[in-house]
Amino acid sequence: MGKQIVATVTVLSTLYLCCINNNLAVSEYYSKTRRCSPKQQVVTNLHFFFHDTLTYPNPSAVLIAKPINLTSLMNNSSSPSPFGSLFAVDDPLTLGPDPRSKQIGNARGMYVSSGERLPTLTMYLDFGFTSGHFNGSSFTVFSRNPITDKERELAVVGGRGKFRMATGVAQLNTYSVNLTTGDAIVEYHVTLYHY
Ligand SMILES: *[C@@H]1O[C@H](CO)[C@@H](O)[C@H](O)[C@H]1NC(C)=O
Ligand SMILES: *[C@@H]1O[C@H](CO)[C@@H](O)[C@H](O)[C@H]1NC(C)=O
Ligand SMILES: *[C@@H]1O[C@H](CO)[C@@H](O)[C@H](O)[C@H]1NC(C)=O
Ligand SMILES: *[C@@H]1O[C@H](CO)[C@@H](O)[C@H](O)[C@H]1NC(C)=O
Ligand SMILES: *[C@@H]1O[C@H](CO)[C@@H](O)[C@H](O)[C@H]1NC(C)=O
Repeated sequence: MGKQIVATVTVLSTLYLCCINNNLAVSEYYSKTRRCSPKQQVVTNLHFFFHDTLTYPNPSAVLIAKPINLTSLMNNSSSPSPFGSLFAVDDPLTLGPDPRSKQIGNARGMYVSSGERLPTLTMYLDFGFTSGHFNGSSFTVFSRNPITDKERELAVVGGRGKFRMATGVAQLNTYSVNLTTGDAIVEYHVTLYHY
């Protein structure tokens, strides 16, 4: 059964590849535009926990740029992520909420604190998997993330490997957050449509 699914997915992605790759005429940079009939989409649901740790000595998210705020400098303001702060992240993804539970992947990329009044983020992240059927595959999120809402939805805009051309949604639920440090554990329920 499992093998059959893998075989089907492989056949579908091969067929789909016909639409992606094409021999181009050497004299031009574009091909003839032709009809493309995408094959049947498949849907996969994922569930995992995302661990974002700003605390040293082992942060998984580090500040790489921030605006100069003279007011805040003078007043020793200590918000962990003021408006305009840009972070690079390599956050572990685990099966359970416990950081010691099995790691199944990582989320890599950046997020920027993009709310002038309310703390909110815009995320540019690639969620890659390192175990199981989707080892080596990843999906991509480019979305705003209103972190003060308990439940929120992020847009999945693409994918690689078995998640090639994925679209979908990630539903987030804050499992725990330390408002002093900014360290957070977030539960993800993801629905991916792919080929
Ligand atoms: C600058 O810092 C002050 C004091 O902490 C804060 O009220 C203000 O929102 C900050 N401005 C920006 C643009 O982050
Ligand atoms: C900065 O600190 C000064 C002195 O404590 C205070 O008068 C001022 O209102 C503070 N400004 C902001 C934006 O917090
Ligand atoms: C800011 O913090 C530094 C170090 O903690 C301290 O020496 C300085 O007095 C503080 N400045 C103000 C304006 O509170
Ligand atoms: C995942 O894929 C990598 C690269 O192909 C391989 O080295 C690794 O052993 C795989 N891990 C698991 C748990 O299958
Ligand atoms: C938040 O982190 C600080 C610094 O590590 C710690 O002292 C505090 O107990 C933490 N708060 C919670 C609610 O875990």
